[in-house]
Amino acid sequence: PAFTDDIGAILDLKQQRNAVILAHNYQTPEIFHCVADIVGDSLALARKAMSVEADVIVLAGVHFMAETAKLLNPQRTVLIPDLRAGCSLADSITAEDIRLLRQRYPGVPVVTYVNTSAEVKAESDICCTSGNAKAVVESLGVPRVIMLPDEYLARNIAAQTDVQIIAWTGHCEVHERFTPADIRELRDSHPGVTVLAHPECPPEVVAEADFSGSTAAMSDYVGKQKPARVALMTECSMSDNVAVEHPEVEFIRPCNLCPHMKRTTLANIRTALEQNRHIVTIEPEIAGRARLAVERMLAV
Ligand code: 13P
Ligand code: SF4
Repeated sequence: PAFTDDIGAILDLKQQRNAVILAHNYQTPEIFHCVADIVGDSLALARKAMSVEADVIVLAGVHFMAETAKLLNPQRTVLIPDLRAGCSLADSITAEDIRLLRQRYPGVPVVTYVNTSAEVKAESDICCTSGNAKAVVESLGVPRVIMLPDEYLARNIAAQTDVQIIAWTGHCEVHERFTPADIRELRDSHPGVTVLAHPECPPEVVAEADFSGSTAAMSDYVGKQKPARVALMTECSMSDNVAVEHPEVEFIRPCNLCPHMKRTTLANIRTALEQNRHIVTIEPEIAGRARLAVERMLAV
């Protein structure tokens, strides 16, 4: 009953406050399917945040996603239900690290994954997501780029392009735990299974998968290819959300939980709307430079 109370209250509050809820693919099914207005991967959430006309955006996801929404639609009030919803990649690098890298590699452009703070974006030439990283790297027309902070995403993209990539040492705490042995065991115990891996997984894992792509690309793959059996090497809620839409596909679930994504709940979305908290703010000087890096990405 608490569950349905919260859903009913959130639907009412959205109308009263002229609010929309943007939810990442890793949000739990009751958020993703019952209260969200817009769902998607990081790239889709950024693009769609830009054209929101409602007064309030609640970002059901992690802090860098809420900051990106605020950067792209600064007139709206952007709320994040729990300020502790961080990301191990965003925590792996600072603005000062980038300034030092630029001294070490003068003139080499810096491509920054959106899973970073606004301060880090502000020091970057252009952002990317897992959905457009290769296109962004190749759009620069240079032989060498710095790509940070995800070492594995950088190495996975390096395997697909002639552009030389200088990587950083950040990892996603969820995806770094998958191993090639996990995939072999899956294939032994579930013959014929199609394995999809997020590009934040180590390259050895991606090499053994049948397909690698962003959360939206994995979801599209299941919708279009309709594999009889599928395993998504990614965060647990992803399979839950996609499985609901494809009852004919058997989902094997070798997942890992993201504790940051799980900070958002129906209860704190309700409180966010009731109490107008937590308001996401970005210092104007940082916001101006960070917005440029995100807008350059969206123009690719
Ligand atoms: P996507 O952009 O593929 O949705 O990934 C975001 C993320 O946090 C993956 O761990
Ligand atoms: Fe960050 Fe990994 Fe969680 Fe995505 S899944 S928010 S990259 S820690």
